[in-house]
Amino acid sequence: MGSRLHRVRMTQAKTNRQPDAIVVGAGLIGLATAWELSNIGLSVTVIEKDRPGCGATGVAAGMLAPIGELDFGEPELLQMNLRSRALYPEFVSSVESETGLDTGYRHTGALHVALDRDEAGEFRRIMELQQGHGLDSRWLGPMAARDLEPGVSPSLAGAILVEEDAVVDPRALVEALRCGLAGRGIAIEKTEVVGLDLAPDGSVSGVLTSSGGFGSPVVVAAPGAEAGTAEWIPEGIRPPVRPVKGQVVELQGDPDEPACERILGSERVYIAPRPDGRVILGATVEEMGFDRRVTGGGVHELLREAYRLLPDVAEMEFIGAIAGLRPATPDNLPVIGRTLIDGLILATGHYRNGILLAPVTARSVAGLVRGEEPGVVSAADPERFTRQEAGS
Ligand code: GLY
Repeated sequence: MGSRLHRVRMTQAKTNRQPDAIVVGAGLIGLATAWELSNIGLSVTVIEKDRPGCGATGVAAGMLAPIGELDFGEPELLQMNLRSRALYPEFVSSVESETGLDTGYRHTGALHVALDRDEAGEFRRIMELQQGHGLDSRWLGPMAARDLEPGVSPSLAGAILVEEDAVVDPRALVEALRCGLAGRGIAIEKTEVVGLDLAPDGSVSGVLTSSGGFGSPVVVAAPGAEAGTAEWIPEGIRPPVRPVKGQVVELQGDPDEPACERILGSERVYIAPRPDGRVILGATVEEMGFDRRVTGGGVHELLREAYRLLPDVAEMEFIGAIAGLRPATPDNLPVIGRTLIDGLILATGHYRNGILLAPVTARSVAGLVRGEEPGVVSAADPERFTRQEAGS
């Protein structure tokens, strides 16, 4: 890849169709990557067959909570999550200051609420594990928890407070990035990628789309949940990404009297507050292939569990419910890195952490294009699956 950078830098005549890098996919991962590539001085074209942010990004609650959903069997994921949470303030402030748009980023903290004594025992065990990893969580008894969040169920048994957690509005962030990229002259081409163009030496030379070819020595594939079925990615390289459905419910409350100040979580639901008084209730986890239907059962489950956690949701206006598809991998780690085709980089498979991991993914991809080592995302190397296949 060092040589790719050289070739990128050697690019002389740039037309709209000959950018230094092409990013395929305008979800948050793709747009943040385009932003970061532009930050390092590359000309970029983004290609998206639908609307920017219309995949998992547009459904995500936007919790920047690295340890809320963590399985401690995944220490590499924890490191990526923590690094990305640390990058968020600088990332959003650069986008906000350049565009004048609010991304909904707020450093709210998170409260994980145990609703009975059994859950409290389990939560205390999780908190001890978190603290054993040097993480910033602490236990609050019922009164202390309700002092912070008076709306939570009076029958709670205790809670874990994570002060460092934050929240962002993924749709607002996508819109801000879209405007920021447009302001830098970076187009989002609405067309479908149907093939990869290779140079005689086997390296990437661009993509073929339903409206013609785009040349570039660097192609970043960020197709989200479609990565596993994207036929334009050669079969031996296509990552084993599958869609995992998540339904969310959106409710409107009074912005002057928010239902909660922090992200709230219980064992079965989370509630993410928005600056305008809305809350997002999430999310179901369903292995249903590419099914994006909102179901009565899904909405019922979310409302029931949210009501147990924060009874005031009963008074809020129902705005709607939506389903999205998370890009999941067999080991729950994302897929970020170079491939066997020189110049083709993958950035997908973020499963439940796509919003959180956007800054670290974008920065790592920019580093890879410059010939740097993958660093904190090295466990996300796409070749782990290629090697497995070769060995099986
Ligand atoms: N990160 C939240 C979810 O995937 O539901």
